[in-house]
Amino acid sequence: MSALGNKKVLLGITGGIAAYKAAELVRLLIKAGAEVRVVMTESAREFVQPLTYQALSGQPVYTDLFDKHADSAMDHIELARWCDLLLVAPASADFLAKLNAGYADNLLLTLCLASKKPLAVAPAMNQQMFANAATHDNLAALATRGVLIWGPAEGDQACGDIGPGRMLEPEQLLALIDEALAPGPLDGVALLLTAGPTREAIDPVRYLSNRSSGKMGFAVAAAAARAGARVTLISGPVALPTPAGVSRTDVESAREMHDAVMARVGDCDIFVACAAVSDYRIANVAGHKLKKDDAPPVLELELNPDILADVSALAQRPFCVGFAAETRDVEKYALDKLERKNLDLIAANFVGSAGRGFEADDNQLEVYWRGGHARIERGPKAAVAKRLIELIAERYTGRHLSTDSDD
Ligand code: CTP
Repeated sequence: MSALGNKKVLLGITGGIAAYKAAELVRLLIKAGAEVRVVMTESAREFVQPLTYQALSGQPVYTDLFDKHADSAMDHIELARWCDLLLVAPASADFLAKLNAGYADNLLLTLCLASKKPLAVAPAMNQQMFANAATHDNLAALATRGVLIWGPAEGDQACGDIGPGRMLEPEQLLALIDEALAPGPLDGVALLLTAGPTREAIDPVRYLSNRSSGKMGFAVAAAAARAGARVTLISGPVALPTPAGVSRTDVESAREMHDAVMARVGDCDIFVACAAVSDYRIANVAGHKLKKDDAPPVLELELNPDILADVSALAQRPFCVGFAAETRDVEKYALDKLERKNLDLIAANFVGSAGRGFEADDNQLEVYWRGGHARIERGPKAAVAKRLIELIAERYTGRHLSTDSDD
């Protein structure tokens, strides 16, 4: 079933020969029941007349940031709030560069900056311009900020070249808009998540920590946000950007992470403990920097609170998901942790082998719950996280298990 009925789509058109294809997209959107308003840049108007889109959308076309005649039309802030989704199709190389840099010197760029709604771009340009490292970097940066990158397709180009750079076809863009506006499996769910390592101070300049990069936890946070959840991420020290739509609090030590979680757990429906929390902290933290001329220090360790166990022991507990990083007997240790910490689901992986686990970009997970198991095959952490979120959503909502489980 289409998610487009009564949805409001703001379509931005920039300069490119594919601007004419956007007319067909407007027609398809209107036919599917969406409301469409069109914004054109100056160079887009070199290719197609605004009147075309006005006739198809049944609405005035917006072109200028300072339109003195547009008394009855919405201003840019209203327009940014009005839409459910903003799609720029075609998106030229110049537009993508300006969007990445945060320019706001035309109406469309201003709308993109002013909108909190999902933003998608459908790049369209000469294949050499698309292959240029500058365009590549701009798109990569936009993607990490949560901008949806749709296309481009490969094929014959208007300039005679052949290669990637063609705008996706209107039917393909329609399907992507439909998918983006469809409710996610975690719509309306509040998900709290820990990620990264913790640091336990030895003295004011030194600490004990571990090799967690936070990549898996951040990928799970991003996947949960894309699935519609309101995500709060409590992160140890990592060098990663905050995923789009995720609210983040940074902490250092296990006790700080524990406090940050406990302060927020009352409002959450699902708790996912991805962090590699230091089991121990230093009992005798030195007040001043330890000097090597002093006698070699003896570090006394004391146990840190177990954040996940404390959350799952609450009377009003959320759905609890744990992680188990193991170097052997994955199933045995994971099932033991599932019981011992009273979890709803546990995701276990081998660590220590090259290309998997800590610091790696790929991962493979064995996921267990009471009476069930599913394997998430090795792949990029983003893909693994997406599948894990699907499994969590299925278990959380009590829906039937997917085909790749052997439950
Ligand atoms: N965890 C936590 N707080 C801690 C320790 C662990 O929330 N103080 C969470 C982790 O985020 C992870 C799971 O518990 O979800 C890992 O369980 P744990 O028993 O700590 O695993 P290991 O450290 O591997 O312990 P073990 O010595 O049992 O292998």
